[in-house]
Amino acid sequence: MSYEQHFGLKEQPFAITPDPRYFYESDQHMGALIRIQHAIDSAKGLTVVIGDMGLGKTFLSRKILDKMQSEDGKYEVALLIIIHHEITAGWLLKKIGVQLGVESPAEDKSLLISQICKQLIYIDEAGKRAVILIDEAHMLQTQDIYEELRGLLNVEGGTHKLLNIVLFGPPELEKFMQLDPPLVSRIGLKVTLRPLDVNATIGYINHRAKVAGATREIFTPEACKLAYEYTRGIPRIINATCDNALLEAFIQKKDRVDPAIIDQVASDLGLKKE
Ligand SMILES: Nc1ncnc2c1ncn2[C@@H]1O[C@H](COP(=O)(O)OP(=O)(O)OP(=O)(O)O)[C@@H](O)[C@H]1O
Ligand SMILES: [Mg+2]
Repeated sequence: MSYEQHFGLKEQPFAITPDPRYFYESDQHMGALIRIQHAIDSAKGLTVVIGDMGLGKTFLSRKILDKMQSEDGKYEVALLIIIHHEITAGWLLKKIGVQLGVESPAEDKSLLISQICKQLIYIDEAGKRAVILIDEAHMLQTQDIYEELRGLLNVEGGTHKLLNIVLFGPPELEKFMQLDPPLVSRIGLKVTLRPLDVNATIGYINHRAKVAGATREIFTPEACKLAYEYTRGIPRIINATCDNALLEAFIQKKDRVDPAIIDQVASDLGLKKE
């Protein structure tokens, strides 16, 4: 028997895959989503989303991608994930070109830029907003990368900018952006993600349990409050704590997670109360 069966769940509620069904519409995650979409709809150009580890930047970027793809024909949107810091401006431009639909991206940089500009005009004439979401943007670490991004942000149609870029990264992203101060001055919207508060943490835990199929309470309210104290409302740490707590409660044959289980699991994970 698994803990899923023990608690009557269809699946594990705190798995790490960013499945949009699990997205919890906390005030701050939803606030961020609405503000970012508004910035894109009003062609603000550059948006920066800053947040410490595990606060939900990647999940938010997926959610935005998902939402924009589902709004048929309104956006030409792509998500790039930067996996190491050795990438070059040329590589990034090519990637952006391909994602925007440039068919045979040129090797020559100025040719490639003019291909991208043409494509941006084509997208605009089709009545769509072009959006490039870049996760792990702090891996962009050279001045020429930021200069090229600024160049693309400068492309304008009659009345508005033709490309919107949203950068997601931890606070050090702002340090790297300082490599190109004129880019920093073009930031149209900056969103800072913060940890969940105690009520949002309780809502978050219950939401994920419900999506996984829970039909009754499986975390007592006291256990949720204690989980907040140990995790300080950081979603990734809440997930680790709650996943371990479900397993532990199952092993101890308890029908719900109580504060004693949270204390035990938090101590195993090396977490300290505030
Ligand atoms: N709004 C949310 N609803 C549901 N789950 C969330 C939400 N935000 C974050 N999570 C969960 O928290 C975990 C951490 O989120 P995520 O990976 O997006 O953080 P991150 O800010 O990108 O972290 P890192 O800086 O390490 O890249 C993920 O497992 C994700 O599913
Ligand atoms: Mg991430």
